[in-house]
Amino acid sequence: MCYDLKPYINIHRMKKIFVSILTCLLMVACGSKEKENANNDKPQKTVLILFYSQTGATASVANQIKSCMDADVEEIICENPYAGNFEETIERCKKEREKGEIPAIKPIKSKVQEYDIIFLGYPIWFGTYASPIASLLDKVNLTGKMIVPFCTFGSGGLESSIEDLKTQLPNSIIMDGFGIRNARLKYLTEELDDFLKRNGYMQGKVEEQTDFKVQDELSESDKEVFHQACDNYPFPLGTPSSVSKRYTSKGTEFRFITRNSPDDVSAKSTVYVELRNEKDAKAEFTKVVR
Ligand SMILES: Cc1cc2nc3c(=O)[nH]c(=O)nc-3n(C[C@H](O)[C@H](O)[C@H](O)COP(=O)(O)O)c2cc1C
Repeated sequence: MCYDLKPYINIHRMKKIFVSILTCLLMVACGSKEKENANNDKPQKTVLILFYSQTGATASVANQIKSCMDADVEEIICENPYAGNFEETIERCKKEREKGEIPAIKPIKSKVQEYDIIFLGYPIWFGTYASPIASLLDKVNLTGKMIVPFCTFGSGGLESSIEDLKTQLPNSIIMDGFGIRNARLKYLTEELDDFLKRNGYMQGKVEEQTDFKVQDELSESDKEVFHQACDNYPFPLGTPSSVSKRYTSKGTEFRFITRNSPDDVSAKSTVYVELRNEKDAKAEFTKVVR
């Protein structure tokens, strides 16, 4: 006898559907809470955008989220701000890490306990959330809260920061997050719009997304796309060893697996690249997952 086991084995997909339903229910719940409080002078807000930003990139994402939904916003401020340039900040962070220190932050004014959903924003520092977020997690009780991470980065780090949040906050619900390279903030409006709609935080239709298929051998034109997207990045992203592609109305998305060198057999990272269907469009990498 032959049964079609596909629906049963696709647990990952089922999990995603379950989380989406949960999200929608929560959003509906938030809506009704707003309505319940409609007669009070101060309706209770249920979404808080809490973020840290050193140089403004993550702040622009926070502002964009705010423009899309009914939410309160608060910026996390350090007692002794990281005021220096990139190298100075790196140096200070390294010293703090060696000593096991986290920066003191100013008290959070929002009553975090009153919110159901926290959009938590940060720049990626050393592959995870920036240190002021560690200070926040130390100070504020996020038990039972639904956390939606968002971040900006030079090359990547959303996935690893989410893993770290899950470890640090075992009693919170850490949702899929939004991440964007600071070099691609020109696409912030459309990418965030897609994320918010796809995850049920905003109403509206999104294009159906197919999964990447198995990795294939690289053609010469694939190699050209990789080099165009990655060669001018100041840190090496590896040598591409295989590729998978998917097509959208915007263009082609590539998923390259890279190695440290052509002779190396172990994978270094996964580099995602986009080539838009626009005249004179240049391939750009969208994120690196290490
Ligand atoms: C101390 C430090 C460490 C960083 N580490 C990473 C990193 O590991 N990966 C990365 O992609 N970008 C890294 N960056 C770049 C920032 O994530 C990026 O510039 C971000 O967009 C800055 O956001 P902000 O303007 O909100 O501060 C680092 C920047 C600093 C200052």
